[in-house]
Amino acid sequence: MTSRVRQAISLSVAVILIAGGAIATERLRRTRPLRPADSTVLFNQGLDPVVTGAPAEWTNESCRECHQAEYRQWAASRHRVAGINDKFAAECLDSESGRQQYCLNCHAPRVPGGRLPMEEPPGLDADYKTPPSWLADGVDCLACHVRDGVVLATRVTPRGEARHPMRVEPRLAKPEFCAGCHQFAFKDQHLPDAFHGQLQQASLEEFLEYRRLGGVESRCHDCHMPNGNHLMPGGYDDAMVRRAVGLDVEASWSQPGRVADVVIELTARRVGHRVPGGEELRFLTLRTRLADAGGRVVGRTVEAADGVDRDGLQSTIDGWLQVETLRRRMGRREHGRDYHAAAAADNRLRPGERRRFRYRIELDPPRPDRPVTLQVELWYHLMHDGKARLFEHAAHDVQRPIRSVSVKLDAPRPVLPAKESGTP
Ligand code: HEC
Ligand code: HEC
Ligand code: HEC
Ligand code: HEC
Ligand code: HEC
Repeated sequence: MTSRVRQAISLSVAVILIAGGAIATERLRRTRPLRPADSTVLFNQGLDPVVTGAPAEWTNESCRECHQAEYRQWAASRHRVAGINDKFAAECLDSESGRQQYCLNCHAPRVPGGRLPMEEPPGLDADYKTPPSWLADGVDCLACHVRDGVVLATRVTPRGEARHPMRVEPRLAKPEFCAGCHQFAFKDQHLPDAFHGQLQQASLEEFLEYRRLGGVESRCHDCHMPNGNHLMPGGYDDAMVRRAVGLDVEASWSQPGRVADVVIELTARRVGHRVPGGEELRFLTLRTRLADAGGRVVGRTVEAADGVDRDGLQSTIDGWLQVETLRRRMGRREHGRDYHAAAAADNRLRPGERRRFRYRIELDPPRPDRPVTLQVELWYHLMHDGKARLFEHAAHDVQRPIRSVSVKLDAPRPVLPAKESGTP
């Protein structure tokens, strides 16, 4: 959309608002205008699709001919499937939460434009049946690297210029480039270029928090694109999540065979934002149980201490004695429905944080002559169960264990070998 069209739309919206009187003024006051931040330079939080100006023969396949490594990495990335993966497709096609140009502006930014962000792109269902390349390739080479029919790069060389027109774009190397898609609030339905509430993804703000807390990496790229690797792994990658969180467990008898003391420590390690980062739907659970040799759960938690905020944050998952949830809640304030409401809890790990959980687990009846095993697992969740059910995703498709630790507590009284009997 050209800025003139947008101005004209804003102007007509303003006229309607004035005519609409008090209610409309209230609505305007409560919306959050888009700040002219650096992050709008290449991508503007989904308000517009990109216009690359690429000549027709420039396709992602054509880039592949000369940039095979980048192509291979990108082809295996989440960016590649951002438009067609089952999680996004289900929501994008849902009449309640999707069917908007807006969603595709970030997930498949070469979507044909010309509409307001909250309008439905024509032919949406047909496009999902046989995805055209702008949809099938999601966030692709052309969307990130081509503007005005020219390749954007952080380095221009005569060899490159001999192959395609290029220009230096220093902003590609900055965290604001990623934040053009990775940081945004809730889209306002009523004004074409406004957001409301708190940020639903706050990667840049959390990254700045990480820097304030002494973090050394100066860009998203340092962790997500080492040596220019275009795989850009994140929450879908076990090794990446494991790298983000350390899990240490200690267990001992405080009353042998009767009461076990457990100390679990989670540590945010090499990660440049809160954990889990990204979309507000993501969360972690820390699950603890005590089991006998046959795997049956024994004992009950009598005390969980150390100032851990459990205010409504603990859920029960069958078979686990204790479940902690590390998650960012989105309440009325965060959704922009009531700006005076109290802030909802965000108990994800802060960059560099160490968090301890202490439990006292009581065995009743006592088990003085049987060993027990403490099992602790850390799980990553793409979304909460209610949402998974709504969109018919199987449980194993939205949650998986990332780390697990077992500690054996020996029987306080060794079991004596049974005496042989009946022999003369
Ligand atoms: C999500 C955006 C994004 C996508 C998609 C993307 N790139 Fe990049 N690419 C970048 C960024 C950012 C840099 C600059 C990295 C830096 O300066 O550290 C880069 C760097 C490069 C470089 C320079 C050398 C290097 O590896 O650092 C090449 C070549 C390249 N990209 C080609 C491609 C090709 C080909 C595709 C498609 C297969 C592609 N890129 C897809 C963002 C992207
Ligand atoms: C015919 C071969 C060829 C094709 C096709 C091609 N490139 Fe290149 N590209 C090159 C060469 C050669 C260089 C220069 C590499 C150098 O100097 O090290 C280059 C450089 C680049 C760079 C900067 C690399 C750097 O080191 O910073 C980017 C980004 C890039 N190309 C992106 C693309 C994209 C996106 C496409 C598809 C639209 C594409 N290229 C298609 C050959 C090609
Ligand atoms: C055009 C919008 C856009 C830009 C620019 C962009 N991303 Fe993304 N990114 C997305 C979307 C959409 C997804 C979600 C893909 C999916 O459906 O899982 C994503 C997913 C990711 C993930 C999650 C991968 C996983 O395994 O879960 C990481 C990490 C990521 N991007 C990093 C980056 C970095 C670093 C940059 C900047 C160099 C960047 N992105 C630029 C849109 C973008
Ligand atoms: C110090 C390293 C580091 C830096 C810097 C960093 N990240 Fe991450 N990021 C990680 C690790 C490790 C994970 C995996 C754990 C997690 O999901 O939080 C991750 C996960 C992600 C995810 C995936 C979340 C999901 O839901 O799948 C996204 C998206 C992401 N980062 C984007 C960014 C962006 C954007 C920036 C820059 C503003 C950035 N990261 C800076 C290390 C880093
Ligand atoms: C400003 C850019 C932007 C817009 C607009 C946007 N998204 Fe996203 N979306 C992202 C990014 C970036 C991620 C990946 C974050 C992460 O991995 O944590 C994502 C992740 C998702 C996921 C999770 C995908 C997965 O693989 O688990 C779903 C579902 C989703 N978006 C649906 C939507 C829908 C529906 C809309 C429109 C109402 C929308 N998005 C609009 C940027 C955007």
